[in-house]
Amino acid sequence: MKVLVVGGGGREDALCYKIGMSPLVSEVVCAPGNAGISKRARCVAVGAEDIDGLVSLAIEEKPELTVVGPEAPLAMGLVDRLEAGGFKVFGPSKAAAAIEGSKVFSKNFMRRRGIPTADFMVFDNMEDAARAIGEAEFPLVLKADGLAAGKGVFVCAGKKEADAALAALMRDRTFGDSGDRVVMESFLPGEEVSFFAVSDGKTVMPLEPSQDHKRLLDGDRGPNTGGMGAYTPAPVATPELRKRVMEEVMKPAIAGMADEGSPYKGVLYAGLMVDGGDIRTLEFNCRFGDPETQPLMMRMESDIVPLLLAAAGGTLADEEPPVWSGGAAACVIMAANGYPGSHDRGAEIKGADGGGGVEVFHSGTAEKDGAVVTNGGRVLGVTAVGGALKEAVDAAYGKVAEIERQTGPGILVYRKDIAAKAFGRLKRDDG
Ligand code: AMP
Ligand code: GLY
Repeated sequence: MKVLVVGGGGREDALCYKIGMSPLVSEVVCAPGNAGISKRARCVAVGAEDIDGLVSLAIEEKPELTVVGPEAPLAMGLVDRLEAGGFKVFGPSKAAAAIEGSKVFSKNFMRRRGIPTADFMVFDNMEDAARAIGEAEFPLVLKADGLAAGKGVFVCAGKKEADAALAALMRDRTFGDSGDRVVMESFLPGEEVSFFAVSDGKTVMPLEPSQDHKRLLDGDRGPNTGGMGAYTPAPVATPELRKRVMEEVMKPAIAGMADEGSPYKGVLYAGLMVDGGDIRTLEFNCRFGDPETQPLMMRMESDIVPLLLAAAGGTLADEEPPVWSGGAAACVIMAANGYPGSHDRGAEIKGADGGGGVEVFHSGTAEKDGAVVTNGGRVLGVTAVGGALKEAVDAAYGKVAEIERQTGPGILVYRKDIAAKAFGRLKRDDG
């Protein structure tokens, strides 16, 4: 069968890698893709937010399954449009995607359904929000209601920072309409876990938990990014914790969305904060996480396509859960120097090919005169599997060093401590 993948980042490269392995699949088409994806799929130059263009592409290509990677086309209603045209799609409807697309919806939904999350207030005008900041305890967290490419969350240590964040959101409208309303919530300490579950609207099937590294610099310092590296499994996610997340977060969310008339199908991503026995939901995302999907796809041993088809078609209850390698996988992101701030494009990258148990998933890359050049903030996701996490991490860093040597210094930056937290935890558990 033919599968259409929408998107052009590392997540979509990893999905194309895994989908392309399926014996059920004869061709993978990706819109728009990137320089790396073009080696695994036929890339078509239709942007992931060009909804009309994507509908026309589906009519032309007649994919038997479409998988939508990023949140923006989901929030814009791509799935509704494709389904209206008779296509089978993995991904939530516009109404269900509000679980990510509006933090106000998402927080109120969690409150209604008894899903544990941080205490919060919502403001639709700056005066009231400023007054609340004046009375608040710190640290506190301010969030834009709408999508902001992962940049709309401000963890504020004190009043000065909170005032500045509020001004950016509501006065300067840095994120446009996304800042029309803001969520103010209490700061949660703990360790973050990314928990994905696939659903057809009724049945919920967990995938393996993973951990991202949101901050730019080693030791979780520097600005927040889309994610600088990830690994799976996450040692903090014990079997007991996984069970609780399913009962307290995932199942109530899927049942709640169905109850409220917007059944959720696709992958539901809960960003969790775990602090001892306390599990709280920081946010829901309506899609696979990036970079988490990169190590996840390398650890998945069973065919992903039957799972995606069953979720899209409402028959997930008949599916076996996926089989995972008993080992681990890790991904190190190499980003353009300057990311998440302004950075150059068009610098040549060398050595960005996989092999020997290491995959180099591409995010912001393009092809120019036969060379691979940078074309975005996050550029490569160097991802490896291993019998143990240390093996996977070492293999990934070996490849990172090779790419850096061939490309030259100062073009790509990366964190040197991916999975350090897991090593700390594994050591504690041993001794
Ligand atoms: P979100 O997009 O809501 O997940 O927020 C982005 C990042 O900000 C999260 O991954 C956390 O690292 C941090 N964050 C968000 N909300 C909170 C909170 N209530 N307490 C502590 N950190 C938070
Ligand atoms: N890795 C964070 C995200 O996908 O939102």
